[in-house]
Amino acid sequence: MVNMAKHQLTSHSVTAAAPSSTANLGPGFDIFGLAVDAFDDFVTIERSTTTNPNHSNVSSQERFRTDEASFPVRIEMTGQYHESIPLEASKNSAGLAIQKIIKDFDIKGSFSVIVKKNIPPGFGMGSSAASAAAAVVAFDTLLDLHISKPDLVRFAAEGEKASAGSLHYDNVAASILGGFVLVRPFPTIPEFIHIEPPKDLHLVFAIPSLKVPAKKTEFARKVLPENVSLGHVVHNLSNAATVVAGFVLKDVNMIARGVEDIIVEPARKHLIPCFDNVRASALDAGAFAVTISGAGPSMVAIVSGEDRLEAIANSMRTGFGQCELTCTTIKCSPSKGARIVCKK
Ligand code: HSE
Repeated sequence: MVNMAKHQLTSHSVTAAAPSSTANLGPGFDIFGLAVDAFDDFVTIERSTTTNPNHSNVSSQERFRTDEASFPVRIEMTGQYHESIPLEASKNSAGLAIQKIIKDFDIKGSFSVIVKKNIPPGFGMGSSAASAAAAVVAFDTLLDLHISKPDLVRFAAEGEKASAGSLHYDNVAASILGGFVLVRPFPTIPEFIHIEPPKDLHLVFAIPSLKVPAKKTEFARKVLPENVSLGHVVHNLSNAATVVAGFVLKDVNMIARGVEDIIVEPARKHLIPCFDNVRASALDAGAFAVTISGAGPSMVAIVSGEDRLEAIANSMRTGFGQCELTCTTIKCSPSKGARIVCKK
């Protein structure tokens, strides 16, 4: 048990940042994650001394929930994309992850969790995962719990149930550990293998201006086949192994050769208008491979070096434009994992 009255805390407020991420990378459904420096979510955890939501620092952009149902975790949402995120702790990825730590460590006290939501939610950029990742890292530091990195990933993954409806580790593992992460979810205690990405690996994301359903990941998981043929498994297994070999050998071309996915992507691509046009256009412009980012609808191009990034971004805009869709393009690189940015 961690009793706040007895526990000498060195800080009363800790802020952590955690990066966006792309999951799957083609054949690695639920087992590959790559942290990317496109966006960061920030989470500040404070020990609660008041439940008054009307304190003077509150801008109209911030929302609260302070009811008893969320006790002892009170969620406050700020940032560009705060609006659609639930304030009830058990429905919020950061809140749910913190509640799990509180329960497992039998922690007494109550806390404010202030999420600055910079990663667009519902677009396959690891948004819910980053909030959960930053939350567990900040909470661990605030309470001096010394939770191991793999356990931080496991706690953060609990938060994913709030948005995906089920537990998956790929985005949270990347967001906490940084770089490329291979998840082994099936041992009794899941394992996370970090590999440093090649320095010349760059990515271009195209985030289409689509209205995404609430709980989009849960929705995008429901379209997946329950059974697949052994031939398809062998094909994807071979490609997944090629992706891992590419990361180990620091060979972007090899990573890209493995990105082809013949199981999940064919089942999901109808959810992304002009998917084939975007891919063809980006490959023409010099991308090594193009796939769905996580559960979509963003698409990600794998690129070696920086020379073609702008041309590839333009080509992805052209591809979506063929379906009269605009998109935001982001040129980025692999990122480090979650980090503490402020202690008070
Ligand atoms: N592996 C997950 C999925 C990632 O594809 O459903 C969700 O971001």
